[in-house]
Amino acid sequence: MKIRDLETPALVVQQDKMERNLSRMMMLLAGKKPKLRPHYKTHKSPHIAAMQIAAGAKGITCSKLSEAEDLADYGIHDILIANQVVQPQKIARLAYLAGRCHLTVCVDDIENARALSHAAALAGTTIHCYIELELGMRRCGIDDFESFYHLAQTIDGLPGLSYDGIQAYAGNLSHEYDKNLREVTTAENEQRLRELITYLEARGVRSREVSGGSTGTAYLKAGSKIYTELQAGSFMFMDCAYDRMHVGFENALYAVCTVISAGPGRFVIDAGVKSLSPDQDLPRVVGFEADAVSLSEEHTAFYGKHDFKVGDTVLVIPGHCCATVNLYDHLHFVRGGELSPEMEIFQKRAVVSRGKAQ
Ligand SMILES: Cc1ncc(COP(=O)(O)O)c(C=O)c1O
Repeated sequence: MKIRDLETPALVVQQDKMERNLSRMMMLLAGKKPKLRPHYKTHKSPHIAAMQIAAGAKGITCSKLSEAEDLADYGIHDILIANQVVQPQKIARLAYLAGRCHLTVCVDDIENARALSHAAALAGTTIHCYIELELGMRRCGIDDFESFYHLAQTIDGLPGLSYDGIQAYAGNLSHEYDKNLREVTTAENEQRLRELITYLEARGVRSREVSGGSTGTAYLKAGSKIYTELQAGSFMFMDCAYDRMHVGFENALYAVCTVISAGPGRFVIDAGVKSLSPDQDLPRVVGFEADAVSLSEEHTAFYGKHDFKVGDTVLVIPGHCCATVNLYDHLHFVRGGELSPEMEIFQKRAVVSRGKAQ
């Protein structure tokens, strides 16, 4: 079966390109301090996660408990939930899951740590913790060293918990197009982390791991003497937002779409914001430079001089790969223009993952 035989919109991954992206990342980190712990949010495929582990990734990063459960079901052993889990019913599931894999979760609150400890003690498991440091993104995390130390010390004294290190993700720099600002701020963050580690060690707390980084900062993290883990995700697929950064990886993910209307200076495809997430950038049609792009729910209009006619199949590079993957139930693997039989395994897993809200 060929790409053009798919009902559109459909999402395809060009396997050769994805594999080259993974090899490039492994080469970038070869012999370096940080080890790859790629983010699952990009592909949400345990099959691809297993491929990443086979290529040398030390473990997998994910965002949600249900993703961690899917990964454990598939036999992935070392899993980081790079997020806080606070709802009591989820904490109970988390504590149970910690008995099936080496599970780490992010923490930035003492009461949450106590609740995690209580659940782990009941389940007879150990939950590993990274304390999140706020590094300028203004999302989760602790701002000052004293509170950080207080939480680390508390976690170390609680049954069923282990303080393993620092969650240090500066997401505000991932798509910072000003290269100088990205590099200077990354260096400042590393200095702050160095000071935090020294501060904690002077008080008897050792941080074995420092985890963070993205596709946009991977080349900087590769040279880091502080970070032990790189959480990059998008490098596997890439998208229009990361293309602008020239980070050395190639587009491997495409939405296959059909032209449903065409006129002079304008054509429209059968996919809008419900199939192509525009939260980070606009989508692009391969081989066409648009003057302007306009998305509605189930249409995207591209403006500019073109030769497309109604019924044509086009390949579209999503503006943001991770948020686009999340909109599909199926992801088709393609090699040399042919749909791969490996798609079958992935399809089933993807449907299972999408069936859960959390
Ligand atoms: C916690 C965390 N780590 C790492 C990343 C980096 O991922 P990417 O390489 O796709 O930008 C993200 C992106 O959202 C994230 O939230």
